[in-house]
Amino acid sequence: MTDINPDQIGAGKPQPLEWRDGDMPYSTAFGDHFYCQTDGRLECRHVFLAGNGLPERWNARPVFLIGELGFGTGLNFSETWRQWKLYRQQGQHLHFMSFELYPMRREEIDRALAHWPEINVERQALASAWPDSPQGIVSLDLDEQTRLSVVCGHAVDGVSEAASEFDAWYLDGFAPSRNGDMWSEELMRLVCQKTTPGGSFATYAAAGFVRRNLAAAGFSIERRKGFAGKREMLCGVKPQ
Ligand SMILES: C[S@@+](CC[C@H](N)C(=O)[O-])C[C@H]1O[C@@H](n2cnc3c(N)ncnc32)[C@H](O)[C@@H]1O
Repeated sequence: MTDINPDQIGAGKPQPLEWRDGDMPYSTAFGDHFYCQTDGRLECRHVFLAGNGLPERWNARPVFLIGELGFGTGLNFSETWRQWKLYRQQGQHLHFMSFELYPMRREEIDRALAHWPEINVERQALASAWPDSPQGIVSLDLDEQTRLSVVCGHAVDGVSEAASEFDAWYLDGFAPSRNGDMWSEELMRLVCQKTTPGGSFATYAAAGFVRRNLAAAGFSIERRKGFAGKREMLCGVKPQ
């Protein structure tokens, strides 16, 4: 496993990026793409939304809190927000809280998300609300029923300080072989502690050590078919 020491590339600084095929960001620090090369938006629906039983679990919930490890381009948020707007009822509220070490710049978010016309509205709203220098907790009320918070810094610090009880988690911290920190037992335990009983997680990852860390943390684990030919992905529930 390659362990990146984020301090070597400067925590809080923009993530070193290069662009492949025009609009596909690639992290040169972690040696990985931000989402699958087939279609990151459809991957989000298969892995993170369906893996957490969404949108169905939004039904009749006055407030729903999603946590995400790794905000990246905001693709998962944008697709989730799009789905939320299609599904929600009056009076319901979604809070999406993401933990990100290297927040991207507005132009980078805009460039990556412009790949998908389906999320044009969300991309434009996110890019125009996004601060010039994201730091601390970026909190954006994007509409009357949707709040985005991006907690800048190491996920392990942000999650340990989060007061809230999360209903669902998107675990999206690059491939486990490239970024062990985002899949450590310590972080998985914090994630489970901050999850409401009956709450869930989903991830494209299927590595044995990730499954063991999530099980040790207290989740019941289910293996499902992965996206775009990937044999497996993991999702699971915190027992009631
Ligand atoms: C696969 S990308 C996330 C993609 C993202 N969800 C999207 O919709 O574009 C992984 C993200 O995790 C962030 N990251 C890596 N290590 C981290 C750490 N220790 N704490 C917080 N964020 C981290 C990276 O900067 C990167 O943005």
